[in-house]
Amino acid sequence: MYHNAVSYVHMLLRQHLHAGDVVVDATAGNGFDARVMADLVGDEGTLYVFDIQQAALRATMQRLEGTGTRVNIMHAGHEQMSDLVSTEHHGGIRAITFNLGYLPGHDHAITTMVDTTLTAVSAGLAMLSSDGLMTIVCYRHPEGEREYAALMELVSALDQGLWVVSETRFVNQRGMPPVVVVIQRRPHREQSSA
Ligand SMILES: C[S@@+](CC[C@H](N)C(=O)[O-])C[C@H]1O[C@@H](n2cnc3c(N)ncnc32)[C@H](O)[C@@H]1O
Repeated sequence: MYHNAVSYVHMLLRQHLHAGDVVVDATAGNGFDARVMADLVGDEGTLYVFDIQQAALRATMQRLEGTGTRVNIMHAGHEQMSDLVSTEHHGGIRAITFNLGYLPGHDHAITTMVDTTLTAVSAGLAMLSSDGLMTIVCYRHPEGEREYAALMELVSALDQGLWVVSETRFVNQRGMPPVVVVIQRRPHREQSSA
């Protein structure tokens, strides 16, 4: 069951991931998504986490304490993903999560930005495995609206024979609830019949 954007993403990850998978958290933040993925991929799995803020990476490392997952902590922008994820994992990543925006409790001016987000999403899509999953939680502050509009342009143009793209909105939630965009690469065997 889920009750908001974040728990919806965690439900999808629980349905999708297996022990030993290779996964990327493109926006580490406080490490909640990273911890869920680490628990699912387990000791044989590999997790890459990206964030531009040391405070976020510290919080994430703390939250990952006690997991046996191989963790690669990247103090770098996710737009560098294709250079920083080992080439042996290109084409083999089973899930990539983006939770856009700023680090709660810190400087709201340090936020994901439309150009680097688009670069990172495109790079991430190129690295997904045959049935790989990308989730993007989009917020509704001004830069978030710009990111969402640009992302919609990008993902609506993806070939439906190769990709399944959907979005989920929490329509009775008060305030400005985030929207979840989910992109799944079709398994290779499905692609010709889609
Ligand atoms: C909403 S938080 C992520 C929440 C996190 N996934 C969690 O489970 O706690 C967004 C994070 O994106 C980070 N960020 C901003 N620009 C970034 C970039 N270019 N590359 C990677 N992370 C970035 C921010 O520093 C912030 O920590």
